[in-house]
Amino acid sequence: MLPLKYLTCLMLTVSSFTGAESANVYYTYRWCRCIYSSPDLSDMVYIDSYYFNKYLFTQFNSTLGKCVGFSEYGIRNAEYWNNGTFVEQERNEVERFCKHNSQIRDSAVISKAVKPKVKLSSVTRAGGRHPAVLMCSAYDFYPPHIKISWLRDGQVVTSDVTSTEEMADGDWYYQIHSELEYSPKSGEKISCAVEHASSTKPIIYDWDPSFSESEKNKLVIGASGLVLGIVLAAAGLIYYKKKSTGRILVPH
Ligand SMILES: *[C@@H]1O[C@H](CO)[C@@H](O)[C@H](O)[C@H]1NC(C)=O
Ligand SMILES: *[C@@H]1O[C@H](CO)[C@@H](O)[C@H](O)[C@H]1NC(C)=O
Repeated sequence: MLPLKYLTCLMLTVSSFTGAESANVYYTYRWCRCIYSSPDLSDMVYIDSYYFNKYLFTQFNSTLGKCVGFSEYGIRNAEYWNNGTFVEQERNEVERFCKHNSQIRDSAVISKAVKPKVKLSSVTRAGGRHPAVLMCSAYDFYPPHIKISWLRDGQVVTSDVTSTEEMADGDWYYQIHSELEYSPKSGEKISCAVEHASSTKPIIYDWDPSFSESEKNKLVIGASGLVLGIVLAAAGLIYYKKKSTGRILVPH
């Protein structure tokens, strides 16, 4: 599931009644929230809450499509609002206020979003419960909100997963690392899924166990060692040949 996003509004009304001996201040406020996670805004919920001092007395919830009251006054107020044009206006806020403004805000973020560079690698760690550890690292992305998950043959894996927080590089960009400990099975497919504002869909990176980066490095080191060995052996042979031809055999 994608992280929940919020768009909020707040309106405060303060009234004070000043008497001879005391001053009382009352305030009411209205706090509305648009809550969603889907990039196409299809799961948008609008919650509009009315408070007197700090007590919530009436709340509109777009999932219910009506106002709900708390306390005697709040319940009466909700019935009154549900019976008039106010509730109609509230129902329209999902489209008029929430979707409209979230679209503007999200597109402003998306236009500045930078796609992560993702690297999957095999790491070795002693003492784990499973013999293999894979690391999925995402670098140089913006904004910091990101979700990294692991898939085993398309199924989400949640156990034996450890992840860092999004870490600031100090240059506007972020990085994150997630590790999966597992026991490899032949023929299975392990993937790392990355969800980020830079893409409307999760991007899946499949692990290719046949040729990991560390194995590639080992191969390069091995090949270099072989070349060095051949060169040294050849040099030794040439030196030996030169020495043996230069030697004068003295018969005894
Ligand atoms: C809105 O109503 C739905 C459906 O009853 C409920 O699941 C949800 O928790 C409510 N939201 C709030 C903020 O109360
Ligand atoms: C709802 O509205 C009708 C017509 O305006 C009115 O007769 C009725 O009393 C109202 N009910 C409540 C609970 O306010």
